[in-house]
Amino acid sequence: MKIDVITVFPEYLAPLDLSLIGRARRDGIVSLDVHDLRRWTHDIHRTVDDTPAGGGAGMIMRPEPWGEALDALVPGPEVPHLLVPSPAGVPFTQAQAVRLAAEPWLAFACGRYEGIDQRVLDAASDRMPVTEVSLGDYVLFGGEVAVLAIVEAVTRLIPGVLGNAASLAEESHNDGLLEAPSYTKPASWDGRDVPEVLMSGHHARIQRWRRDQALLRTAQRRPDLLAALPKEALDRADRRC
Ligand code: ADE
Repeated sequence: MKIDVITVFPEYLAPLDLSLIGRARRDGIVSLDVHDLRRWTHDIHRTVDDTPAGGGAGMIMRPEPWGEALDALVPGPEVPHLLVPSPAGVPFTQAQAVRLAAEPWLAFACGRYEGIDQRVLDAASDRMPVTEVSLGDYVLFGGEVAVLAIVEAVTRLIPGVLGNAASLAEESHNDGLLEAPSYTKPASWDGRDVPEVLMSGHHARIQRWRRDQALLRTAQRRPDLLAALPKEALDRADRRC
């Protein structure tokens, strides 16, 4: 997968050199380039923002550097899926991460201040898919932290990136539920024991316990997820839980 990130703070993306993403880049599974938007400014102050049309607080990113950046990075005919992190975007979910992991080329446009002039996104939509995505119902200073999160969520789903692909099948959100609690050794710590069933070696009982815990947790913490499950996702034993 090819990934391009356009930002006024390239240093913010430094963590993408670390850990499993760093390894995936070195292994050639992911090719990731971070571009400084100011490369496409031409004034002495390398200006990227200006006051909002119509008045109001804050600054908006001017369209010209963005237009030039996208022209330079996407000469065509191949185009990326352009993702624009924004608190006004559609919520980013695991299902979306799965879809994005199958795409050959993603580009991220990191807005700062009060966002990017809308004409940039409208013009880009004429020649490539554009999605505004939100990490959640809160406001960050800019898109960079969202890019870190989205790139991590997406790249770990690409075959070869994660050491143990089996862990993908068991994690939260894979089946629409939150994951059951996890334990390791020692069996007893500080007066607290690992649940007995997990020490039983009885695979079917362990699976049932994990499923029940996932259902209970989801009901307590995310009733919206439980309500959204299709009827056939719950079996008879689930309904007894
Ligand atoms: N930029 C600012 N806030 C954001 C959010 N909640 N999600 C994605 N990008 C953002």
